[in-house]
Amino acid sequence: MELNGLPPALLALREAAKTVRDPTCADETLAYLLSLCRERSPARILEIGTAEGLTACAMLTVCGARYTGIELDPVRTAKARENFIRFAFSDRVTLFEGDAGEILPLLQGEYDLIFADGPKVQYLRYLPDCKRLLKRGGVLLSDDVFFLGKEMEAVPKKRRMLALHLAEYRQQLQNDPVFETKFYDYGEGIAVSIKR
Ligand SMILES: C[S@@+](CC[C@H](N)C(=O)[O-])C[C@H]1O[C@@H](n2cnc3c(N)ncnc32)[C@H](O)[C@@H]1O
Repeated sequence: MELNGLPPALLALREAAKTVRDPTCADETLAYLLSLCRERSPARILEIGTAEGLTACAMLTVCGARYTGIELDPVRTAKARENFIRFAFSDRVTLFEGDAGEILPLLQGEYDLIFADGPKVQYLRYLPDCKRLLKRGGVLLSDDVFFLGKEMEAVPKKRRMLALHLAEYRQQLQNDPVFETKFYDYGEGIAVSIKR
């Protein structure tokens, strides 16, 4: 899986973003997302945690989807808006600045692809809305689901709550009869859940 076909200016922004906190997603996670976009040609994409819009711009480069994003940080939201203008995607984008926990319940309609990449400690809280908003046959891709590794004993005590939260999230995805979920070791681990 590769990132070929993306504008060099976007690839350069991705490299720069990797050097700061909360960077954009891992190369292999993006490559997987792009393969989903190419194969499935989603009509509507939702991203929780848009950051500077780099993954959004990459997905919009390889498919004709309309995109909805949610980002809490006003500086990143402004940067994302700049990037959507720079790469000429503004007319396909709706970007909400605010808390995903408040905005998700207000969203309507169906999405073919949801990329959950906001605060990991809120994944469980967001799940019912992701489920509601996902079209049948659509894909929920949750990033960083093995963020603290796979062995609970190896997790430092002060990170245990987050580790337990992620473990519970993985279990809910796996046990939910509405989803068919597979896990991959890309980046910090991704869950790919198809809504039956
Ligand atoms: C890992 S970054 C997202 C990277 C982005 N998806 C990408 O691949 O380029 C996580 C983002 O979630 C945002 N975030 C944190 N809490 C949030 C919340 N409650 N609602 C919406 N966004 C939030 C952060 O500001 C940060 O930009």
